[in-house]
Amino acid sequence: MYNEINLDKIDINADPPAEEPARQFYFMAKCRRWVRDFEKTNGRLPKACVTTFGCQMNARDSEKLRGVLREIGYAPGTEEDADFIIYNTCTVRENANTRVYGRLGQLKPGKKKNPNMMIGLCGCMMQEPEAVEKLKKSYRFVDIIFGTHNIYKFAELIAARFESGQMVIDIWKDTDQIVENLPNERKYSFKSGVNIMFGCNNFCSYCIVPYVRGRERSREPKEILREIERLASDGVSEIMLLGQNVNSYGKTLETPVTFAELLKEIEKVDGIRRIRFMTSHPKDLSDELIEVMADSKKICRHLHLPVQSGSTDILSRMNRRYTKEQYLKLVEKIRKAMPDISLTTDIIVGFPGETEADFEETLDVVRKVRYDSAFTFIYSKRTGTPAAVMENQVPEEVIKNRFDRLLKEVQEIAAKACVVHEGTTKEALVENISEHDENMVTGRLGNNLLVHFAGDASLIGKYINVYLKECKGFYYIGEKTEE
Ligand code: 5AD
Ligand code: SF4
Repeated sequence: MYNEINLDKIDINADPPAEEPARQFYFMAKCRRWVRDFEKTNGRLPKACVTTFGCQMNARDSEKLRGVLREIGYAPGTEEDADFIIYNTCTVRENANTRVYGRLGQLKPGKKKNPNMMIGLCGCMMQEPEAVEKLKKSYRFVDIIFGTHNIYKFAELIAARFESGQMVIDIWKDTDQIVENLPNERKYSFKSGVNIMFGCNNFCSYCIVPYVRGRERSREPKEILREIERLASDGVSEIMLLGQNVNSYGKTLETPVTFAELLKEIEKVDGIRRIRFMTSHPKDLSDELIEVMADSKKICRHLHLPVQSGSTDILSRMNRRYTKEQYLKLVEKIRKAMPDISLTTDIIVGFPGETEADFEETLDVVRKVRYDSAFTFIYSKRTGTPAAVMENQVPEEVIKNRFDRLLKEVQEIAAKACVVHEGTTKEALVENISEHDENMVTGRLGNNLLVHFAGDASLIGKYINVYLKECKGFYYIGEKTEE
């Protein structure tokens, strides 16, 4: 396992090993030599900074990149002072790409000032051939470009850049490989994301994820459990299981396992107090899962269940494979088994051909389900997806009007849903000092809502009973209660 490997004992003059992860440790050891040379010349360690765009999958990938950088010997830096800046990109909506180009443009002057500075780009946007072509043509100052499938080769790519002095580009179309036991550096000491699967096979017609993250691959349960046991012994008590569609976990394994079965095993791990997961696809959410959740003491009473649209016609053209009625029935079943569950969702406004009547159906679902919160998105045309070539793209002003109406509805309902818990006492896991007041801390409740209350850094990572004094719409102001 990675924490038992001594990089300085690796013979970097020998040929690199063919097998993983040994090969990557060899390259980490090799890169360490450059870092030491840098230190000798500059009297300080080089600094690196990884910036994440997009979802929790990317956030977890960034922790893996930081783990490799730490092993190589980089000190943590910011975008202002780093010698190596990595953008872990997203491409789920067009504006994610636009932001990356904008930020890259801002890095150019820094690179002129410090010719030794390196820039790396990885993540979903790099899986788009058009994006890479544009970078090759107009952003020649980028040093390393790689995609989502070979992120585990980060050390090898850095070594290639050091050795060649040239731009290194390595993008794979797909992979069936999952490399275990590489380093990572967690943002929080007490909670962690855990990948349980990669990729997606659903091909929702608007979504680029299956094209940039590849086919669905599940990790072996024993590898997942080993990682969670190790995290628990390291002081982690809350885990977030990550996958594009966790409900179809395990279907493609040699010995298939259901997501519910996996959860039951994870529940047994001592030291883990809270289990979360995302994202659930409604079409694959089984009765078995509802039962396991309802019986569990550790699985948080929160379900993120993207509906995307309330119109059966739009859902069919989105290739979501459920109807409005099926979705509402599912919600009913979940609420019956767990009346206190918090439900959240994703909604897209302005999918091609969406009529006012279709949009009203979406509002109707929002009113019926009464989500605790909802992420609302304006449809973004992604080249290569079936929806991009559909007729009747909705005009911008119409979308904007619907988006505003939806947001208003979602916010009003969420505020009312939130107020229900006002005046109760709930357990919060304290995550950090409040961003707005240094005398307050921010804790997360089991239902995923946040509470701010008076406290100091000594509370971080602890479970505290908090009286929810006042609901502020999406969060609470609370008071620590005496145990
Ligand atoms: N346009 C707008 N939103 C999108 N999403 C995925 N693809 C698109 C797109 N092309 C949203 C979906 C998904 C969330 C992660 O992003 O709602 O659940
Ligand atoms: Fe995209 Fe649909 Fe897969 Fe989610 S389930 S990643 S929305 S294709």
